[in-house]
Amino acid sequence: MKIIVAGGSGFIGSHIVDVLQEQGQEVLIYDLEAPRYGQACAFVRGDTRDVDRMAQIMKPGDIVYLIAAEANVNRFFESPRFSNDITANATLAVLEAARRASVSRVILASTEWVYGSLPETVEESIITEDTHYAQNPDHLYTSSKIASELFCKNYRELYGVNYTIMRYGIPFGERARPETVTPIFIRRIIRSEPITIHGDGSQSRQFIYVKDLAKGNAACLSTAAENQIFNLNGTKRVSVLQIVKTLEEILGKKATLNFVEDRKGNFKGRFISSEKAGVLLGWSPALEYEEAMKMYVEWFLKND
Ligand SMILES: NC(=O)c1ccc[n+]([C@@H]2O[C@H](COP(=O)([O-])OP(=O)(O)OC[C@H]3O[C@@H](n4cnc5c(N)ncnc54)[C@H](O)[C@@H]3O)[C@@H](O)[C@H]2O)c1
Repeated sequence: MKIIVAGGSGFIGSHIVDVLQEQGQEVLIYDLEAPRYGQACAFVRGDTRDVDRMAQIMKPGDIVYLIAAEANVNRFFESPRFSNDITANATLAVLEAARRASVSRVILASTEWVYGSLPETVEESIITEDTHYAQNPDHLYTSSKIASELFCKNYRELYGVNYTIMRYGIPFGERARPETVTPIFIRRIIRSEPITIHGDGSQSRQFIYVKDLAKGNAACLSTAAENQIFNLNGTKRVSVLQIVKTLEEILGKKATLNFVEDRKGNFKGRFISSEKAGVLLGWSPALEYEEAMKMYVEWFLKND
């Protein structure tokens, strides 16, 4: 049995491949781009929308991680049809290939965005995998990921293709896209450039260190994860000011902050529980936010 990681050349996918290889699994990366972080495993260049090509490389009993998708929500806004094509439509294509090839499971990368943004009155509520999908998703990315999840459930019901759905929090760490919040903040502090903060900086998010997230992905290989949904997220909420403070301490340098008016609808964040992954898969993040950030900054200073 081999494990196919579609999107294994990207940020999160490459870390998943690393963990799977450390565990001695036979891994094949299927991606439009060749591996860029030195992964020594089989590689097939191909498109997730290409059912025939995917079905050709799949063998009965294989497990497929579908990590490839449009991860940049801004590009979803700019080119919705293309972005949906490589996200929801691609999920349908991979499921169809999986059905033809009788693979044992498709493990899908989804997102906490499927819960949408709840009104402020319920912002403190705890979200679990039983919390309903956003009824009126306010972003194309959310709709496309909900569709992807629903296709997995349909393929299980209609054709018996097993799935696991992983709903990621906000990942940070080595190999992250440079335009995401943490690398932007690090660079601004190093260069003594001001950091713009909307509102008072108390709005918080749950971050998940990418190496811990990758271990959570690998934990989903367990048969206990079959036809289940798991939140894979950090253990606490971190405010914008706490991100800055953490980075100031690690870098030994004060940041210059520029406070501007709060963005409309900048929701303050809710707690997403990953307890189910703890109970069923024995997974929880190994590192505290601050420890993980220290590892990342060390890497960043050597590699940026
Ligand atoms: N990065 C985040 O903030 C975040 C948060 C939550 C969920 N996710 C989800 O995690 C997954 C991975 O995100 P990432 O940040 O690693 O993205 P990424 O852009 O770094 O990696 C995606 C990989 O998929 C490949 N790919 C894209 N379209 C393809 C196609 N049609 N056929 C084959 N390969 C294709 C790309 O070449 C790339 O290597 C996505 O499904 C994303 O929606 C990401």
